Amino acid sequence: MYGKDIIRKKRDGNELSKDEISFLIQGYVKDEIPDYQIAAFLMSIYLQGLTTKETVFLTEELITSGKVIDLSSIPGKKIDKHSTGGVGDKVSLVLAPLVASLGVNVPMISGRSLGHTGGTLDKLESIHGFQTNLSVDKFIKNIREVGVCIIGQTEEITPADKKLYSLRDATSTVESIPLIASSIMSKKIASGLDSLVLDVKTGNGAFLKDFNQSISLAKQMIEIGKGMQKDVVALITDMNQPLGKMVGNATEVVECIETLKGEGPNDLVELTVTIGTHMLKLAKICDNLDTGKEMLHKALKNGKAYETFIKMVIQQGGDEGYLSEMKNKAISKNAREVLAANDGYVNTIDTYKMGTAARILGAGRDKINDKIDHSVGYEVLAKLGDRIGHKQPLVKIFYNDENRYNQAESLIKDAYKISSEPSHIPPLIYEVLDDKYYGKTSSGPLKFSSSSLVSILG
Ligand code: URA
Repeated sequence: MYGKDIIRKKRDGNELSKDEISFLIQGYVKDEIPDYQIAAFLMSIYLQGLTTKETVFLTEELITSGKVIDLSSIPGKKIDKHSTGGVGDKVSLVLAPLVASLGVNVPMISGRSLGHTGGTLDKLESIHGFQTNLSVDKFIKNIREVGVCIIGQTEEITPADKKLYSLRDATSTVESIPLIASSIMSKKIASGLDSLVLDVKTGNGAFLKDFNQSISLAKQMIEIGKGMQKDVVALITDMNQPLGKMVGNATEVVECIETLKGEGPNDLVELTVTIGTHMLKLAKICDNLDTGKEMLHKALKNGKAYETFIKMVIQQGGDEGYLSEMKNKAISKNAREVLAANDGYVNTIDTYKMGTAARILGAGRDKINDKIDHSVGYEVLAKLGDRIGHKQPLVKIFYNDENRYNQAESLIKDAYKISSEPSHIPPLIYEVLDDKYYGKTSSGPLKFSSSSLVSILG
């Protein structure tokens, strides 16, 4: 088999066999297939798509490039959450310790910044000492002792996704349903979970801007999960503006700490709690969503969630003392406000441009080996529907480089559209795809067509 022939086959829109996908993916992990061939392969998938069968094969190859973690020695349900990616989307940092404080085991394998969106691992690494590259044994130990551990893909766990993820980020091949579905589901299945809640973003700051595309992505992931006997619930949620107020890395951690102490912004709290209720319900810790909501709000207010966050930080090598200093020490001192050009209501925020602005400031990467500047980012001072006056601040930018500031400022100015009439504010949560949702539809859940995924786990 030759890489060139397989790439050409996909480039021309033909279906690949399991062996062909395996040849490229396993060869890439072993450094037998070069980056440039895989970059071309990714672009051919981006342009031609993959059939469901190919997506399942790709997911299998990503999973079997490493180990599937066995968490059976830990009592209780293991439930995780994953977002398809957004701007200011810091939910995982709050949610994971929050639900763990109520008894859910959360084995979380997360990602770094991707495209115009931020990454959970980069955000956590803005805490001095925090380690996201742990061995499987340490991962299991932490879940047993604290109930939660957040790591990235490693040499042991989905190493193929680790390499492809960075390559997709640097080659603009992120926005593809089969690539997103296989990337997310491979990590999640490999983590050893029982059930999963997916936050599938839709809107101008999501990888899939169109609602129906977001539904298709959710269904593909549910289909893959069901094929592996995992319960998967997917929420379709809004990404037409940054979530919460802070965007960046240290900036977002500071907002998470406030949220874990019961002082978070409404949209971040509402989304976190809603996803959390589904996790509690899947774990059978609450009977219904209303009780779950109450328990979660209480844990945010009474310090239980923050306590678990601190334990998680310490277990992963982070400096507990640094957390209280982050607001003053971890965020760049150079700050300037972007002002509104006219008065009116915030009508539209182009969230793709907002995310790109954060990347250009240094919060994300252009090339694979770029170093992140954890101290840069911005605070969103005007959200959709807000009434603002002429020259009132829209955004406060934290920066370290004048040239990068100028580019980010120009993108942010362009992103905001102010109108004279109050505008429509999109709902935060559009749809929940769970068993009830499928009960409502005539076709029922998508049926998994391949038995091969099931067979890997025996
Ligand atoms: N999160 C992932 O892990 N992978 C993607 O492709 C997108 C979001």
